[in-house]
Amino acid sequence: MRLLENNIQSYDFFIEKENMRDEIIRGLSSQVKTISPKYLYDHRGSELFELITQLDEYYPTRTEMKIFNGKIEEITEAVGDVHTLIEYGSGSSNKIKALLHNFSTLKEYVPIDISRDFLFQSSLELAMQFPHITIKAVCGDYTAPLTLPLEENGKKVIFFPGSTIGNFEPMEARSFIMKSAQLLNEGDGFLIGVDTKKDIQTLEKAYDDAKGVTAAFNLNLLTRMNREIGADFDLSQFEHLAFYNEEKGRIEMHLESQCNQIVKIGGHQFIFQEGETIHTENSYKYSIKEFQTIAIECGFVPSKVWTDDTGNFSVHYLQK
Ligand code: AVJ
Repeated sequence: MRLLENNIQSYDFFIEKENMRDEIIRGLSSQVKTISPKYLYDHRGSELFELITQLDEYYPTRTEMKIFNGKIEEITEAVGDVHTLIEYGSGSSNKIKALLHNFSTLKEYVPIDISRDFLFQSSLELAMQFPHITIKAVCGDYTAPLTLPLEENGKKVIFFPGSTIGNFEPMEARSFIMKSAQLLNEGDGFLIGVDTKKDIQTLEKAYDDAKGVTAAFNLNLLTRMNREIGADFDLSQFEHLAFYNEEKGRIEMHLESQCNQIVKIGGHQFIFQEGETIHTENSYKYSIKEFQTIAIECGFVPSKVWTDDTGNFSVHYLQK
């Protein structure tokens, strides 16, 4: 890639994993068949997710954006004299632009993402739009230990929007937030978007929209397995299923087998009963109190929280 801007640097920590196939086979061999949601995001999956964020039923992206736009002055004040902004999974550039425009003391922006093309494309755009900010694009998995190329002389804030924290099991979420705290010094912060608990109908519609975009997003996982690891899923024999598990406080997405069938991947065979599912995603929802309790357990002070007037989404500023 030709770098047209001098305020952009790139760092590559991403090791192409040969173990996707092994991981899928392990997941399909277990008692409850599972595939990690990270595999939803191939090129087509990322496009479909983008379409999801524009659906009437999918309130999180729109609501979070409304909070960033409507509360930007308070957010800017809470964040204070930030020098370095680190973003986990920097897919959507709309949210970050609102912050980069307003955080006037910001010197470096460090987006981390496994999707190399999206990362470098959006970093280049931002580098042109914000010539006074150094962009250090890190291609890597933010859940894995990374040595980030940070200047050690200023206030750091981690930005983790979109309620992606909801994909983690609650215990994993805690250890992830604790690990993030280790990147920070006292007085640094964590700005994080968290989807809230609400009526079941609103939640379920957001993950099972009328146009079937979420269904296509979920089923695309099988298309990907067929193409990339030589599986032979019959897409007409699986259906998208999404429901709210109230006891666990999470939306679950599954792919449900419509008949008794056998799926093959290389020499491996997977037997499906009619109605049996592959569990493809959890999306945990946290009340403001619940999330603040987690933040405290992880060594943060939950110093500010913003919602829109529906209370459908929350943005927390946690201080170390
Ligand atoms: C990107 C993980 C936040 O859980 O709402 C959207 C993914 N899955 N529709 C979410 C998703 C189905 C999304 N996150």
